[in-house]
Amino acid sequence: MSEVNMEVNIAGVSFQNPVMTASGTFGSGAEYSALIDLNRLGAVVTKGVSHRPWQGNPTPRVCEVTGGMLNAVGLQNPGVDVMIERDLPFLRQFDTRVIVNVCGHTEAEYLAVVEKLADQPVDMLEINISCPNVREGGIAFGQSASAVEQITRAVKRKAAQPVIMKLSPNVTDIAELARAAEAGGADAVSMINTLTGMKIDVYRRCFVLANQTGGMSGPAVRPIAVRMVYQAAQAVKIPIIGMGGIQTAEDALELILAGATAVAVGTANFVNPAATVEVVDGIRDYMVKYGIKDLKELTGAVR
Ligand SMILES: Cc1cc2nc3c(=O)[nH]c(=O)nc-3n(C[C@H](O)[C@H](O)[C@H](O)COP(=O)(O)O)c2cc1C
Repeated sequence: MSEVNMEVNIAGVSFQNPVMTASGTFGSGAEYSALIDLNRLGAVVTKGVSHRPWQGNPTPRVCEVTGGMLNAVGLQNPGVDVMIERDLPFLRQFDTRVIVNVCGHTEAEYLAVVEKLADQPVDMLEINISCPNVREGGIAFGQSASAVEQITRAVKRKAAQPVIMKLSPNVTDIAELARAAEAGGADAVSMINTLTGMKIDVYRRCFVLANQTGGMSGPAVRPIAVRMVYQAAQAVKIPIIGMGGIQTAEDALELILAGATAVAVGTANFVNPAATVEVVDGIRDYMVKYGIKDLKELTGAVR
């Protein structure tokens, strides 16, 4: 098989291929390591981690919908200390990059996590300012351009690692938010987080999720992700990590052609735990078949 170059570089960090796990859909990696070889991934992106443990939202907090799922997990996590003790040493055994996804209710809470991670073996930070399932923080930062710029600037001042700002699709103009992150000094942006949705049980005549609303993810959101990655790519120079509904290599290539330097696979992991490695193999097969020597030839090639 002829050799192709799938390596990508984001803010000086090189990735052996462009395929990552989407935060919150891959646990801390340990569960999936029994099923797939983590050495094959460009990066593992962890579940969101906060300064102190978070309980998350009341159940039920996930449900299936046509073409995807709704979740209102509410960023349940054991806190950054557990991640440092338990998850990072585990992930570091593998030849893959480690990106830690950070959440908080306030700017100070985000910064506390960022500071704790400063001397840890973490390649990049992904700052989740777009979770639709927490009342304070999260999306409260992600929907206003001035708030995005300010939190980005504050995080960049404290961060030892390059910073990815994870943007919300629950906005009118994604380009404006991407520009705000770039203006605040972000090294990269990722998108899309989930879209706020709702499901009603017509027989019980009640909300399916205890939280009433939940974040929609899965294949049905992909065209929205493609459009938003494209619009952001036209608006900023920093790299974009694209996600939203990727199930196959073709899906990933669509986001790459729209302008993503790398991609992340989320909900598909729940259906097919090998989705990430199948996407890696499928991108390689496509490159061989169509004579693409370097993946960079495809990034943003459709305009
Ligand atoms: C159950 C679940 C938990 C998630 N948790 C997080 C999280 O902790 N932090 C975050 O930034 N995004 C989180 N997300 C959003 C995903 O990382 C991703 O942006 C979104 O699901 C779209 O990709 P997909 O359609 O491939 O799932 C979560 C998504 C799901 C389905």
